[in-house]
Amino acid sequence: MKHRIVFATGNAGKMREIRLILGDLGCQILSMKEAGADPVIVEDGKTFGENAEIKARAVWECTKDIVLADDSGLVVDYIGGEPGVYSARYMGENTSYEIKNQNIIDRLKDAEGEERSARFVCNIAAVMPDGHVVHTESTMEGIIADKPAGSGGFGYDPILFIPEYGVTSAELTIEQKNRISHRGKALEAMKMELRRILEEESL
Ligand code: IMP
Repeated sequence: MKHRIVFATGNAGKMREIRLILGDLGCQILSMKEAGADPVIVEDGKTFGENAEIKARAVWECTKDIVLADDSGLVVDYIGGEPGVYSARYMGENTSYEIKNQNIIDRLKDAEGEERSARFVCNIAAVMPDGHVVHTESTMEGIIADKPAGSGGFGYDPILFIPEYGVTSAELTIEQKNRISHRGKALEAMKMELRRILEEESL
């Protein structure tokens, strides 16, 4: 049986990346809107994994397909893991990233070298048609830059310096970022999980 994979997001950019990576699984890939699901979702989890599962399960309740959702954010060690699951809401949803980014840099004014370690984290939850859940999680490791740099990407990209590349995440090309990003790697890992589950099913 050909499964449907529904992704619990309204973000067109994410859907493009998901179609690109999961395209060869032989499943039909739909956004939640295309699947006719529009549940009210309260993201009140304390971890990326909890939030990803909350989103996936809310859509799964409507469609009972294979439903995927992701949750991601920036984790800065020196400030206790902030902004973490509050990355989008940090300093208020409507505050510009110019201000959010400068605020994080200011809070790290006394941090040196490895004390500035930080990472983007992405957790993906897949709720299967029988209701059981599988997670994958990946990171993109870096350090908080002294000042923002680069105009690519979005959000906190200008302040996460990636030592292997010698530039911030906002200075990587889209191809470079997709290859090493937290979301790209978590999606690749999810593709392997789904392939394994689908193969087991057809035995
Ligand atoms: P969401 O998982 O799409 O809700 O993303 C949560 C928030 O984490 C975003 O609004 C950004 O603030 C931050 N974030 C997640 N991934 C990235 C990234 O690749 N670059 C910059 N910021 C990111």
